[in-house]
Amino acid sequence: MADPNPFPGENNTGHVWDDNIRELKNPPPRWWMQGFWLSILWVIGYSILYPTWPLGEGPNRGLLGWTQIKEYEQGLARIEAKRAEFEDRIRDLSADQILADPGLKQYTLASAKVLFGDNCAACHGSGGQGNPGYPVLADDDWLYGGTTAKLTETITGGRQSLMPAHQTMLTEAEVDTLAHWVVAMAETGGEGGSEAGWNLFRSKGCVACHGQTANGHVVDLPNGDFIGVGAANLRDGIWRFEPGGFESARHTILYGVNQKDVPESRSAVMPAFAQPAGKLSAQDIKKLVVYVHSLGGGR
Ligand code: HEC
Ligand code: HEC
Repeated sequence: MADPNPFPGENNTGHVWDDNIRELKNPPPRWWMQGFWLSILWVIGYSILYPTWPLGEGPNRGLLGWTQIKEYEQGLARIEAKRAEFEDRIRDLSADQILADPGLKQYTLASAKVLFGDNCAACHGSGGQGNPGYPVLADDDWLYGGTTAKLTETITGGRQSLMPAHQTMLTEAEVDTLAHWVVAMAETGGEGGSEAGWNLFRSKGCVACHGQTANGHVVDLPNGDFIGVGAANLRDGIWRFEPGGFESARHTILYGVNQKDVPESRSAVMPAFAQPAGKLSAQDIKKLVVYVHSLGGGR
């Protein structure tokens, strides 16, 4: 009978495959064994300090008293403290001062973006780009003005512009002449309006709200600001009411804007946001003023 171990005297287990592949009984390297014992020690140490073993009512506590929720709360408290610093400064400064402080402005914009999404985007679009029937806030074409003072006024108290219906004040031909004039004005940046159109514009009272040059400014102030009643700029080719063009202009002239007893009237209501009727604090409104001012041209 052959020797059951073809490599006698060697440090093997006696298991041999394919004639010469043996399983040896060498101990693992010393560094490996040290690591092995150390990891056991580490587990013991860890389980003394931190919650580790599942017991009846949750894991053991651990000497350090650490819990995930505690760590989360501490992190949150650190963020709140940082935030409070910014919020206090926003409370103390005006919107113009915030705009002049790059760090504070950045914080304010980030914070206002959420407010804008929750309160304004449904009508004005998520980037203030406007929606059919709702004005664009991301340009420098302003109905009421884009200064921080005007924006504060708009968001605080809301806006509801008025334009009378002209169905009984003008003849069909006059309405058509004016509507063609409006389209020509829009298409040419205000240069192409007919003489007949300008005459009606001045004699039928349009000028009182839309201004001498039909740009929606009743009085231009030396500082670049203007006084107006929210009438649309008829020169700039930006249509306030969809789809724009001849029929659209005709409709607005015939039925006006926000005329309660005229069912076809255009509707243009910007809600008031200040508490108690509205839902935004003075602090939130200040942030939104900074935000909207940064979207548009600011005038
Ligand atoms: C229900 C729809 C609606 C919501 C919500 C709304 N707006 Fe308006 N907003 C309007 C309409 C309509 C107008 C135009 C009013 C007019 O023509 O008189 C307007 C006008 C404005 C203007 C004046 C633009 C100009 O050209 O002068 C500003 C600024 C403005 N909104 C900001 C906001 C902000 C900021 C919010 C969120 C806090 C908001 N709006 C929420 C409908 C809305
Ligand atoms: C009492 C003030 C007032 C008078 C008078 C007035 N408008 Fe207006 N007009 C407005 C206001 C306010 C708006 C709407 C602005 C808004 O809500 O966006 C408007 C909007 C318009 C629009 C819509 C523009 C667009 O982009 O869709 C046209 C067109 C227009 N007016 C033409 C006229 C003409 C022509 C007359 C004279 C027959 C006239 N308006 C008289 C205040 C007035």
